[in-house]
Amino acid sequence: MPYELIPGLEGVPIAESAISFVDGQNGILEYRGIRIEELADHSTFEETAYLLLKGVLPNPEELDSFKYDLTHHRRLKYKIIDLIKCLPEHGHPMDALQAAVAALGMFYPAKDVTNEEENYLSCVRLIAKLPTVIAAFERLRIGDDHLLPRDDLGYAANFLYMLTGEVPNPVSTKALDVCLILHGDHTMNASTFSGRVTGSTLADPYTVISSAVGTLTGPLHGGANERVLQMLREIGSVENVQSYIEGKLDSKERIMGFGHRVYKTKDPRATILQHMAAELIEVHGPTELYDIAVKVDEIVTERLGPKGIYANVDFYSGIVYDQLSIPQDAFTPIFAIARVAGWLAHWLEQLIGNRIFRPTQIYTGQHNVPYLPIEQRD
Ligand code: CMC
Repeated sequence: MPYELIPGLEGVPIAESAISFVDGQNGILEYRGIRIEELADHSTFEETAYLLLKGVLPNPEELDSFKYDLTHHRRLKYKIIDLIKCLPEHGHPMDALQAAVAALGMFYPAKDVTNEEENYLSCVRLIAKLPTVIAAFERLRIGDDHLLPRDDLGYAANFLYMLTGEVPNPVSTKALDVCLILHGDHTMNASTFSGRVTGSTLADPYTVISSAVGTLTGPLHGGANERVLQMLREIGSVENVQSYIEGKLDSKERIMGFGHRVYKTKDPRATILQHMAAELIEVHGPTELYDIAVKVDEIVTERLGPKGIYANVDFYSGIVYDQLSIPQDAFTPIFAIARVAGWLAHWLEQLIGNRIFRPTQIYTGQHNVPYLPIEQRD
């Protein structure tokens, strides 16, 4: 039977899913039917993670119990800390995260994926421990001691505390919490797909998540947010924006933080993050980086908007993280510590009526090639 190749599987559904929904023409994103703007305004990351995993918003007792579980599984075994200490300090934190997640699977074997109680505990452990891994790596690599998590702080505030050693103010805490909510899930993107493929083999959840973390590292996916800030720094001033962008576009280079396979209008997450960046600047004082970003947004939208290319989630997130004093190479890991909730929701969904992914290919090689002995080869 002849097959038609669809590069990048564009427009090919690979699963039925009830977790998140994107309307790319109208710039709408929903988790379990709830608009992202409502969640950003009223929810917390912990509550949103529950919503993604369980399908409904928790009642007060359910939320308390979930938060208790998340808070009491944040610590890392000393051997995981030892492992993190052994990693090269110049290595990328995403690689450290992938290694640590794979190692966690050896400490908490969860091979029986039919055991719902064990699956819940694995979800809690992964969501709770990922921020601790990132904060520990960031501190240990510069010679500082890692900090133990603080049970009196919520998820976002505790992460900032473990990273910087200071308890953040409420504006910074809210900003990070919103960023985590916005990155919680995003339908069938590359890392989610890769997690689902791994999950379809009935591999354990730590392997599923380490596979998804690896996929997120690429510059066309989660890695774009770091490159946005790099680009804004390279531009250096508002006056340079026009010539810089035109130069890039004339030489057919991509502008990081723009374009999306699904959105053909401005990504709703970029709009929320732009407001968030502006709010933080009101508190922390103006930065030229923000002004440069606004100018880049204006010029790229003017040039590429007619082709359906607008700012995506990665464009303003870097400025928000920069305002929170988060080091540049921790940007993609923050994406990961939020997206782990979505990846796990997809893993649980994949297990229902699971069928292993086994696509096909269109073979373009030769047949019946004779084996040439080595002495006869050129
Ligand atoms: N800058 C300049 N041109 C672009 C850009 C961009 N950022 N994005 C797409 N184009 C052009 C591309 O050159 C092509 O032009 P032409 O038709 O003339 O050859 C056209 O738009 C279609 O590009 P495509 O690669 O077929 O589109 P896609 O849907 O496969 O790509 C994308 C989506 C995200 C990979 C792409 O827009 C891109 O590389 N963006 C920059 C990286 C980035 O910001 N990634 C973060 C994505 S959102 C968060 C996440 O998923 O992690």
